Amino acid sequence: MDHFLYRDGALYAEDVPVAEIAAAVGTPVYVYSTATLERHFRLFDEALDPLDHLVCFAMKSNSNQAILRTLAALGAGMDVVSGGEYARAKAAGVPGERIVFSGVGKTGSEMRAALEGGIRQFNVESEPELEILSAIADSMGVTAPVTLRINPDVDARTHAKIATGKSENKFGIPIARAREVYARAAALPGLEVIGVDVHIGSQLTELEPFELAYTKVAGLVELLRADGHAIRRLDLGGGLGIPYTRSNEAPPLPSDYGEMIKRTVGHLGCEVEIEPGRLISGNAGIMVSAVIYVKNGEGRDFLILDGAMNDLVRPSMYDAHHDIVPVVEPAAGVEQVPFDIVGPVCETGDTFARGRHMPPLKAGDLVAFRSAGAYGAVMASEYNTRPLIPEVLVRGDQFAVIRARPTFDEMISRDNIPEWLL
Ligand code: LLP
Repeated sequence: MDHFLYRDGALYAEDVPVAEIAAAVGTPVYVYSTATLERHFRLFDEALDPLDHLVCFAMKSNSNQAILRTLAALGAGMDVVSGGEYARAKAAGVPGERIVFSGVGKTGSEMRAALEGGIRQFNVESEPELEILSAIADSMGVTAPVTLRINPDVDARTHAKIATGKSENKFGIPIARAREVYARAAALPGLEVIGVDVHIGSQLTELEPFELAYTKVAGLVELLRADGHAIRRLDLGGGLGIPYTRSNEAPPLPSDYGEMIKRTVGHLGCEVEIEPGRLISGNAGIMVSAVIYVKNGEGRDFLILDGAMNDLVRPSMYDAHHDIVPVVEPAAGVEQVPFDIVGPVCETGDTFARGRHMPPLKAGDLVAFRSAGAYGAVMASEYNTRPLIPEVLVRGDQFAVIRARPTFDEMISRDNIPEWLL
C-alpha cells in the first residue's frame, strides 16, 4: 500500500496534488511519501517482534539525507556498501552502532573510516578481506566486529543481474568452506567474530529461496558453535520484492517473512538483522515526467517524455516494468491506446515501455512512474548532460525539495581544464 492515490480526478502524493509539485519544481522529478516510508519500515520492525532485532535500511536503494533521517528517527539502522554511504549515514545522524558495512570490495581506507567513526559490524566476504581488516584494526588498537557472509548456493529465482546467492556469483564465502574460514578469522588479531551474514538477491517474490538459505544458515550456526565460535548475531540480508504492477503480483508480506525467520532461525537465540531496501523505499516514490511530443510512427505511436533512461535506468538495464499512470485520472470508460513510452536520450535503449496502453495524452500532460523510490534517483546519471533530477519529500500537506536540480553551470564547472588548454 502506498500514498499515491487519485482524489477528485487528480493524482496526489499524500495530501499534495502531484501537479502542484511539478508546477513548482519542474519535471522530471522524484516525489517521495513520508507516510509510505514510515509504514513500510514499521511493517518490518513489527514483523520481527519479539526477536531481538534491528532493521538496517539498505541505503543503496535511496540514500537521500532526508530519507535517511526519516527512517533513522524511527530507530532504523543502515546497511552501507561504500565509504560514501557510510559518510551519508553518519551525516544523517545515524550512530555507528546502528551501521553495518556490507560489500564485496571494501577498501582499507573505507574500513579505517568505519572503525574510526564507529561500526556495528563488517559483513566480510572473503579471506583477503579478513586479512586486511585484521591488519588495520590491529594497527589501530581496536577490535572489529565481524560476521562472515556465507554464499548458501541457493537460487533466488529473480533477475540474473540481481541474484547473489548462487555459487557462481561473486558474493560471500562458499558454505562448504565456512568452518575453515571461521577458524582462520578466529585466529586473526583485531577481529571479533560475532555472527553469520547471508543475502541471496533482490526482488524475490517467493519465500522459499529465503527459507532454504536461512535453514542452511541455522545448520551452519550449530556447527560453528560446536567448533567453539560464539555466534550471537545473524544478518539475513534484504531482498523481499514489491509488486511493480498493481494487477497481478502479490509478493509475500513482511509479516509472512518475519514468521518464516522465526521458524527457521528463531530457536538459535541470536540477535537478528535484516537489510531491506526496495520494500521500504520502492513504493514510497514516483517519478513524474511530462510529455514533450506525441509522435505518430510507422504502425506505432510514441510518447516522448522529458524523463529518460539516465533518470530511471531500471527499464533499460533490467527490462523492469514500472506502471506509468497519467497524473490526471482518465475518465471512466475512456479508450486506452498502445504507446511506446520513451525518453529523449539518443539510444533505442531509452525505452520505458512498449505497446503500453494509456489514455490519449498530449504535449505537456504529466505521467507518474510508480514504484520508483528504490534504485531510481540513486542510479541516475548525467548522460547526455542531463541534470540529475530533483527529489521532493511529501509529509501530509507539506512538501520540500530534498535535492535541487543542478544548473548547467554547476555541472560544467565540475570539469577542470588542464593548463595546456588554457
Ligand atoms: N543487502 C545487500 C548485501 C544487498 O546487496 C542488497 C541489494 C540489499 C541488502 C537490499 O536488497 P533489496 O531489499 O533492496 O532488494 N539495482 C537493482 C537492485 C540491486 C540490489 C543490490 N543489492 C534494481 O534496480 O532492481
